[in-house]
Amino acid sequence: MRTVTLFDGTPIPVMGLGTWAMGGRSRPDPSQDDRALSAIRAALEIGYTHIDTAEMYANGHTEELVGQAIRSFDRSKLFLTTKVRPPNLSYKRTLASIDGSLERLGVDTIDLFLIHWRDGTPLAETFRALNEAVRAGKIRYLGVSNFDVAEMKTSQALSETPIVTNQVPYSLTTRSEVKNGVIPYCQANNIVVTAYSPVEEGQLRVQTVLAEIAAAHNATPYQIALAWLVQQPWVITIPMSHNPVHLRQNWDAASITLSQDEMTRLEDSG
Ligand SMILES: NC(=O)c1ccc[n+]([C@@H]2O[C@H](COP(=O)([O-])OP(=O)(O)OC[C@H]3O[C@@H](n4cnc5c(N)ncnc54)[C@H](OP(=O)(O)O)[C@@H]3O)[C@@H](O)[C@H]2O)c1
Repeated sequence: MRTVTLFDGTPIPVMGLGTWAMGGRSRPDPSQDDRALSAIRAALEIGYTHIDTAEMYANGHTEELVGQAIRSFDRSKLFLTTKVRPPNLSYKRTLASIDGSLERLGVDTIDLFLIHWRDGTPLAETFRALNEAVRAGKIRYLGVSNFDVAEMKTSQALSETPIVTNQVPYSLTTRSEVKNGVIPYCQANNIVVTAYSPVEEGQLRVQTVLAEIAAAHNATPYQIALAWLVQQPWVITIPMSHNPVHLRQNWDAASITLSQDEMTRLEDSG
C-alpha cells in the first residue's frame, strides 16, 4: 500500500476505512453490530491499517465496535483516527471527549485526533486541551476537519505540534475544497488531505469518461474514482463499506496507475 509521510517520517496508507453508519447513524443500532464487526475485521484481514471513526458516529457506539474489532490485532500496526464533535469543544469537554474515545476504543493512545467541525468555541480553548493531551501521550497527532484556510492557519498557530491533516469532502464530483483553496493550501504546506465521502456515499455518478477509463483498466468506476484521488499529492482517502467485495476493490484501487492523460480527462469531466 502506498503511503503519505508525516513530518516525523510516520507513513499513513493512502487507503483507509471509514466507519460512518457502522453500528448505527446518529444513535446506536445494535441490530447492525455483527455487520459492522464483520466489515471492520474483513478490512483488517485485507490489510487496512488506518481506521477513521468519531465520537459522533452512533453516539460513541461505532468507536466501541472498532475497539472490539481491533482487540485481536497488533495495535502497533494500526493507525486510529477519531474526532471530537461540537458541542464538546470547550477545554473540559474536549479532555473528557478524548478520555471517552480512548475508553471506547480500548487503547492508550489515539494516533490522530481531529476537531470534527467548528462551533462558536474559541479555537484557543480547544487547542489548550488538545496540546495537553498530546503532551500527556493520549494523542500522537492533531488535525482538523471541515476547516477553511483561515481556520487552518489559526489552528497551526495554536497547535504545539504540526496540524497533519484536514479531513474534507473530496471526490470526482465534489470539488468545493479545491475551489475554496483548502486543498491547494494543504498540498503547498505538507498537510495531508483526507478525502471523505470519496464515492459520494455510494451514489457515484458514472459519466462516459469514468466508464471508459474503468473499462480500460478492467476496474470498476468506483475504483477509478478512488485511484484518481490517491494519485494526487498529499491525498489519502477513507471509503466506508460493509461489503467485503467492495472493501477489497477499494484496497486494490490504490494500486491502479492512471496516466497523466487519464488524470486530466477525469479532472476535466467532474
Ligand atoms: N469529517 C467529516 O465531517 C466526515 C463526513 C462524512 C464522512 N466522513 C468519514 O469518511 C468516511 C467515508 O465517507 P462516507 O461514508 O460518507 O461515504 P463514501 O465512503 O463515499 O460512501 C460509502 C457508501 O459507498 C458504498 N461503496 C463503498 N465502496 C464501494 C465500491 N467499491 N463500489 C460500490 N459502492 C461502494 C458503500 O456501500 P457498501 O457498504 O454496499 O459497499 C456505502 O454505502 C465515513 O465513513 C467517515 O469515516 C467524515
